[in-house]
Parts: sequence; structure tokens; C-alpha cells
Amino acid sequence: MTEILPVNSVSLEKAARLLREGELVAFPTETVYGLGADGFNTEAVKKIFKAKGRPGDNPLILHIHDFSEFKGIAKSMSDCARKLAELYMPGPLTIVVEAKSSVPEEVRAGLSTVAVRMPVNPDAQKLLKVFGGAIAAPSANLSGKPSPTTAQAVFEDMDGRIPLILDGGETDIGVESTVVDARGDFPVILRPGKISLEDLRKIFPETSVAGAFSDVPRAPGMKYRHYAPKAPMTVFLGNHKRVIEEILNRASELERAGHKVGIICFDEDLDFFRDYDAVSLGKINDRATHSHRLFSVLRAWDLKNPDLILSVGEEEKDLGRAFMNRLGKAASGNIINLGGDK
Ligand code: TXA
Ligand code: MG
Repeated sequence: MTEILPVNSVSLEKAARLLREGELVAFPTETVYGLGADGFNTEAVKKIFKAKGRPGDNPLILHIHDFSEFKGIAKSMSDCARKLAELYMPGPLTIVVEAKSSVPEEVRAGLSTVAVRMPVNPDAQKLLKVFGGAIAAPSANLSGKPSPTTAQAVFEDMDGRIPLILDGGETDIGVESTVVDARGDFPVILRPGKISLEDLRKIFPETSVAGAFSDVPRAPGMKYRHYAPKAPMTVFLGNHKRVIEEILNRASELERAGHKVGIICFDEDLDFFRDYDAVSLGKINDRATHSHRLFSVLRAWDLKNPDLILSVGEEEKDLGRAFMNRLGKAASGNIINLGGDK
């Protein structure tokens, strides 16, 4: 049985006790819900991989609440790592640094490095404080599914697998933290997030993106099929009028052939799709809301079981880069650019 409790002093004490006993507890952060274990308890960390069905070669993030904790985790801190910590912690940034050998192998998935993040969400901070140590936590979804942005979404995936979910309401950002390799002179983005390439370039003009401009491998987790709804999905980019026409044409053809079609669009498009089952990501120019809603929209479509999903996309700029990264993975790279001006 999995219990869901609102965050208060009693539930926090209970969560901390479970963590000390080597159990798993799901908790909110500003990005997505995490599936936490005592980061220095090897047996507890192993339970995370089991509960999620996560491949053993995908390392975890250690969550901390105080800068002094770096001493017990990082073997060394580059000037770049120090500067990033100073500017963005607490916040939705994860930095990869050289690990002390005392950091369990299971957390690092055998790598010499470890990912560290200091969440800014007050419930996450309170839990870390009451527990009094580092919490290893991936997103609290089953491996391959969209990350959970509500306690209910965690429950859908983790019911019967963990004793407790702390319910802190809907998460704010909705996509996971930006992961950067901070071992060199400038950051290398391994996973895009709210803290964008454009943000980081203002401080480190040489900031790069792994895979695109450098030899540094991406975060191991990025190679897996991810966020995938059960139904195959196609994303359309380019002139927005063209995008709507294309989705309308395809949807009518598919429905005529007897398929159940799901559409993901913006508020302004809903009227065009009134004869279809369409879900909105928010106003067309409100990018923060697109990311905030993406995973819950994908999960909602999963429950409705369409045969196919047709979705709008957005420009890969600022937060749009993180949004398109997740949407592209959900569509298994099936993105069609129709061209033309926006
Ligand atoms: O916002 C977030 O980051 C959430 C919340 C719960 O903090 N956590 C999260 O964890 O998204 P997870 O495990 O789902 O994603 C962590 C990513 C994976 O792609 C993993 O491969 C990468 O970070 N990662 C972890 N340790 C790494 C390391 N030492 N080197 C490179 N990549 C690493
Ligand atoms: Mg994840």
C-alpha cells in the first residue's frame, strides 16, 4: 500500500524516518517529483532502480540542501562548478562533478562523476533538512514514462512499489532540471532545462551542448526512449497556419480510416479542432505553461488510449529547447518541419 500525505511536520518526520530505515519516499521539487532514497545507503539506492525498472547504467542525482554537503560528495570543484553553484543553487540546475569514492557506485552507475542538485522547492528543502543528508532521487516515474508533476501521477506509476508519497501539489516548472558537466572551464549542457543555453552563455559565452558541439557524452539517461505515450506521436513545426491545416487534414483522413486521433495544440487553436479530441498546452506565446503542462498532457492522452497523437511544437529557444527535447523524445524523433515563416 502506498500512502499519499500532504506535506506538514508530521508527514516530513515520517518521510525522514522511512528514508533512514532504507525505504523510498516520493517528494515534490520545483521541476518534477523525485523518488528519494538515502544517498549513502547502497541497499536503499538499489531499491530505486527496482521500483522504476531503471537500467543500472543510468546514474542518479544527489539532492542536497546546504553547500557544506559538497565536501562529502565532490572530489574537486572547478571554478566553473563553484560559479554555477553560487549563481543557480538552490534552483533547477544539476551539476556533474568528480565524485569522492565514498559516493556509492550505484548512485554514480560506475562513473567517476556524480550529479548534484539543490532544489529550491520549500517542501523538498524541508525534507532534506529533516532527513539531514543527501537524498538520491531520479524522477518518480516508471522508466520510459513521462516524469510526474503531481502526486497522483506518481501514484499511477508507484502504487504498491513505495510506502509514501509526499503531496506538495503541482510542480512549478514541469520539466526536469538542466544537467551540466561542470568539470571543465565552461559548462557543457547534457540535458536542457529551465536554465537555458542562452542563460548560461550570458555568464560563460563558451557554454556548449553535448552531442551538438562537443565530444562529451550526453547524460547516460538521454539515450533511452523516454516520456513516451503508448500511442505513436508526430510533431509538426513551421508556419503555424500550415501546421494547423496539416494536422486537420491528417486527422480527418485518419478518422475516416477508423482511427482514434488525439491532438495536442495551443489555446488559440482549439476552435479549429472543435470536431476532434484536442488538449491545449496553454496560450501560444506562454512557453512556461507549455513546459509546465507537457507531461500531464502526455499522461492524460495515455489514459484515453488514442491510436495516434498529432502535436504542435515550438521553436528551440530558451525554455523551448527543453520543451522540444522532451516532446521530440515522446515522439521518438518523429518531427516534421513544414517550413515557412512563423
Ligand atoms: O529535475 C530533476 O533533475 C529531477 C528532480 C527529481 O530533481 N530529477 C531527475 O532525475 O530528472 P533523473 O534521474 O530522471 O535524470 C537525471 C539525468 C539522467 O539523464 C542521468 O543520466 C543524468 O541526469 N546523470 C546523472 N548523473 C550523471 C553523471 N554523473 N554524469 C552524467 N549524467 C548524469
Ligand atoms: Mg527521469
